[in-house]
Amino acid sequence: MSAPLQPPFRYDPLSIALHWAVALLILVLFLLGWYMVDLPKGSAERSYFFSLHKSVGLTVASLVVVRIAWRARQPEPVPVAGLAQWQRRLAAMTHRLLYVFMIVQPLTGYLSASFSGYPTGFWGVPLPQWADKDPVVNEIFTGVHVLSSKVLLALIVLHTCGALSHLWSRHENVLRRMLPGPGGQQSETGTGYGNAAPVRAPD
Ligand code: HEM
Repeated sequence: MSAPLQPPFRYDPLSIALHWAVALLILVLFLLGWYMVDLPKGSAERSYFFSLHKSVGLTVASLVVVRIAWRARQPEPVPVAGLAQWQRRLAAMTHRLLYVFMIVQPLTGYLSASFSGYPTGFWGVPLPQWADKDPVVNEIFTGVHVLSSKVLLALIVLHTCGALSHLWSRHENVLRRMLPGPGGQQSETGTGYGNAAPVRAPD
């Protein structure tokens, strides 16, 4: 007799909500970041968009911390069978690096802002000004923030292409595991996994 299928087959609702909230906000941050740096220095518009970028960025940082803490407590969904070893390894490495850069990115932004001489606020609430203006340190952290944004963007492109490639290879349940709704679970008429059956529990 075959062993029962091992749950869980998909990510839990909080993980799914955090994944899509963070993804959307990071997209907003890229658009804000690219737009605001070209605005005239000293203008009210630049100041408004910098403040908005900082608040959204700190919100993302908080959500990423919640996400990491939650992920450490939750069992990972059962790996989808039919994926090559290199696909699993590449996905796992990309996920780890995404977590690293989702921390490095807001952290360097906050450090850059802290040494800029301008106040940093969180949705209108001023944060403690713990560093004095230092143009050299500010420039170092700004440089790392810009460089890290390029690495983060490359990782996001790799992650998105990897996720979408499963549609072509008919491993669509890899995607469904991170979407709200019933996909990625056992169905009454079968596994619901197409040609990518979930791994069975060890005997
Ligand atoms: C995941 C979170 C974040 C992302 C994806 C992000 C992304 C970006 C991008 C794409 C730029 C434009 C870089 C360029 O010139 O090409 C930028 C600039 C900037 N970001 Fe962020 N950012 C994040 C978080 C933060 C946070 C939390 C802060 C501060 C509290 C911050 C402060 C800044 C500042 C001050 C600049 C302008 C740097 C300059 O003077 O050129 N960022 N960010």
